[in-house]
Amino acid sequence: MANLQIAELTTDNLFAAIQLPPQPPDKEPVAPVAWSVAEAYVNPTAWPRVVLDGDDVVGFVMANWNPDEEIPEFRAGIWRLNVAREARKRGVGRFAVEQVAEEARRRGLDRITVLWVPGADGPEEFYLRCGFRKTGNLLFDEVVGELLL
Ligand SMILES: CC(C)(COP(=O)(O)OP(=O)(O)OC[C@H]1O[C@@H](n2cnc3c(N)ncnc32)[C@H](O)[C@@H]1OP(=O)(O)O)[C@@H](O)C(=O)NCCC(=O)NCCS
Repeated sequence: MANLQIAELTTDNLFAAIQLPPQPPDKEPVAPVAWSVAEAYVNPTAWPRVVLDGDDVVGFVMANWNPDEEIPEFRAGIWRLNVAREARKRGVGRFAVEQVAEEARRRGLDRITVLWVPGADGPEEFYLRCGFRKTGNLLFDEVVGELLL
């Protein structure tokens, strides 16, 4: 996709964002966007963003930037990533990862992390293709990946 942009949540794009998958009764290894937006509302260090293709919302990514976070894996990195089904395998997810990495660099960071559900049905191959490597740690039964910037 040639025309991708990252943007803050607004009254104009919120409704499209919360309609991204998963929707009940979908089974996907990520929380619904509405949950993430609710978490961002009470968590000032959350960084929720939509990915736009022109005017269309094709993805949602939420990072967290909190150097004081007790668990190191949650200090800087991706919490959530949801891509519209019809937009998958077209570079939206990679674009979102690159935008989070860019924001991390702006903040003077040299590493971002992500946790993913292990297994062939999960996003492991995607994250490895985006340059993450497995740290070898598991946290809450999820694989910890890191991307060095
Ligand atoms: C995982 C997800 C974010 C990938 O988004 P996407 O926009 O389809 O990914 P991209 O098109 O940017 O893919 C980047 C690369 O990963 C590969 N890839 C993407 N999804 C893949 C999958 N399910 N299996 C294997 N490879 C995959 C692409 O082929 C591409 O490879 P390339 O290096 O050869 O170009 C998307 O499928 C999704 O929203 N899944 C459900 C929710 C989820 O798992 N979120 C992550 C929670 S931590």
